[in-house]
Formats: sequence, C-alpha cells, structure tokens
Amino acid sequence: MQTIFSGIQPSGTITLGNYIGAMKQFVDLQNEYNCYFCIVDQHAITLPQDPQQLRKNIRSLAAMYIAVGIDPEKVTLFIQSEVPAHAQAGWMLQCVSYIGELERMTQFKDKSSGKEAIPAGLLTYPPLMAGDILLYSTDIVPVGEDQKQHLELTRDIAERFNKKYNEIFTIPDVRIPKVGARIMSLQDPLKKMSKSDVNQKGFLSLLDDPKVIEKKIKSAVTDSEGVVKFDKENKPGVSNLLSIYSILSGRPISDIEKEYEGKGYGDFKGDLAQVVISTFSPIQEKYYQLMESTELDDILDQGAYKANLVASKMVKKMENAMGLGRKKRK
Ligand code: TYM
Repeated sequence: MQTIFSGIQPSGTITLGNYIGAMKQFVDLQNEYNCYFCIVDQHAITLPQDPQQLRKNIRSLAAMYIAVGIDPEKVTLFIQSEVPAHAQAGWMLQCVSYIGELERMTQFKDKSSGKEAIPAGLLTYPPLMAGDILLYSTDIVPVGEDQKQHLELTRDIAERFNKKYNEIFTIPDVRIPKVGARIMSLQDPLKKMSKSDVNQKGFLSLLDDPKVIEKKIKSAVTDSEGVVKFDKENKPGVSNLLSIYSILSGRPISDIEKEYEGKGYGDFKGDLAQVVISTFSPIQEKYYQLMESTELDDILDQGAYKANLVASKMVKKMENAMGLGRKKRK
C-alpha cells in the first residue's frame, strides 16, 4: 500500500480553501492509502503566535480533521512537535539545502516582504516540511496549488541527499486537485483565500455560522454582467463561486451554469450559501462534540506513538548516512 503524508498549520481558523484544497481530498484518500496527517505546529511558529492561542488552535485543528471525516482508526493523526524526529530531520535537511533556493520560495518572499526582522525559521521552513514528508517514505503528498513549489524543493533535497549520502529516501509525488486547487478570496478573486486575510469577508471559516456564511457569499465580488458562466480570465469572481458550488454539491459546472441561465447572481449566491451551510453544519456539530470530549487526547497519543515508531527509524538512517554520532556497539 502506498503512503500519503500531508500537514496543515494550526495558525488560525480553517478556511474553505483548506477544506477543498486539502481536507476533502484526505477523506477520499484514507481508504486506499496508508495515511499520515499532521498538525504542523513547528511550522506555525515560523511567524509569531500567542502560546495559549496556539495550544487552542492545535486542539481545534485535531477536532476539525476528525469532524470533516478523517477516521483515526484508519489514519495516523498526530502533532508534529510530539514526534522529535521532525525537528531532527529538519536540521539535517537544512544542512543539505542552499540559502539561494530557500530565498527563491514565493511563500518566503510573500511572508517576509516588508518585515525588518525576518525569523530564520521562515527561511528554513521548506527543509522542515521536506523532513515531514521524507521521514515516512511518502509516495504521494496531497496539497493545494500554493504548496507545489515546496514539493518540488522537497524532491530536489531528497535526490541530493540520496546521491550525496545513501539512497534512503523515496521521492514523493505531489497531488493537486483538478478543481479547487486554488480557492480565491471572496473579496478579491485574484488573491488566494487565506485565513490571514485582514478582510474577514474574504474567507469562509469552517466554523462560520449560517448567517455569516450568507452575508459573506452575498457580498462576494463578481462582475456587472449578471451571467453565471465559468470564465476564469474574464469572470474570476463568478468562476471561483462556481468551482466552490460544483465541488461541494458534486455537480458538474456546466449543469450549474444551465440551472442559472437567465437568472441573476442573487439566486445563484443564495443557493450557493445553502450548499455551503449544508456542508458545514454536520462538520460543526461533530466538531463541537469532539472539543468537549477526552477522545481527542487518546487519538493524538496513539497517533504520536505510531508516527514515532516509523520516523525515529528514518532519523537513525539519516544520521548513519551522514556519519553523525557513533556506530552501534556490538
Ligand atoms: P497550510 O496550513 O497553509 O494549508 C493547508 C492546506 O490547505 C491548502 N490550501 C488551499 N487550497 C486551495 N485553495 C486555497 N485557498 C488554499 N489555502 C490553503 C494548502 O495548499 C495545504 O495543502 N506548508 C504547509 C503545511 C505543511 C505540509 C507539510 C503540507 C507542513 N509540512 C508536509 C504537506 C506535507 C502549509 O502551510 O499549509
């Protein structure tokens, strides 16, 4: 059975973009692959976090993974910092990464631009991510489009390590969804939907209540044409809403276009809000139930235990390949 690894940062609310680009895929994949899903808290601290809030966000993300349909009996769900191998691998892989290639990452450029004091972790973020993936001999990494460049770098680093030291790493493939790889902001459809958007109306949180969802979708930026048609270039706002509608309802885009022929955006947006609400409601119900139970701790303990068994072995292999420490005594 092939192995899948993916991670999400516990750095705030989980957005519709995270759900469509990542989590929804995870649910579909868990039956066919050996899956590791991670709460990457060490990546989250590459930008300032309030410690108490971070703790809350970690728990909240764990509950959200399960609420969207991840089955902890089938997958290994765990917190990155609870498996020391991640930081260990991250360090070793930093030492085979080049500053030049790290500086070329668009996410580094975006997150560091305009900052006077740039945390070093922001630059060395990709080797930590490479470690996450390589520790589990991962075959496939399901992510949204914004992570593609990090995945390409992961492959480069793995190939470099294999060549320089020892062939220990599997070279992972990226898996990006055909529709919904990049859900756009509701307020600026040329920008990615992001939880760090200062304009709260730009993103939908999986925990938004029905009234808020309706409001945000009704005020989504479209155009003045009044025609519900998919045309990314000329109608980015409507196309984004159509993608969301199609993915959440499971209906082809052409089908939805037909339904709204001759109707304005009002009807379309109203119905889309209902589609989103009926997707989010059962997730929210399960989420709040989990947040009050002790079940989560058992699941995360078990996940860390299972992940550690695999990851610590790979760290030993890495150390042996690089000549760190001493040989085992006979
Ligand atoms: P993060 O936490 O920013 O996002 C988690 C996942 O959500 C996807 N995503 C989107 N997909 C479509 N449209 C959007 N608007 C949108 N916004 C976010 C992301 O592509 C991602 O799949 N570096 C990673 C976390 C990470 C990781 C890993 C991922 C750490 N180690 C190992 C895979 C494998 C990140 O910051 O994702």
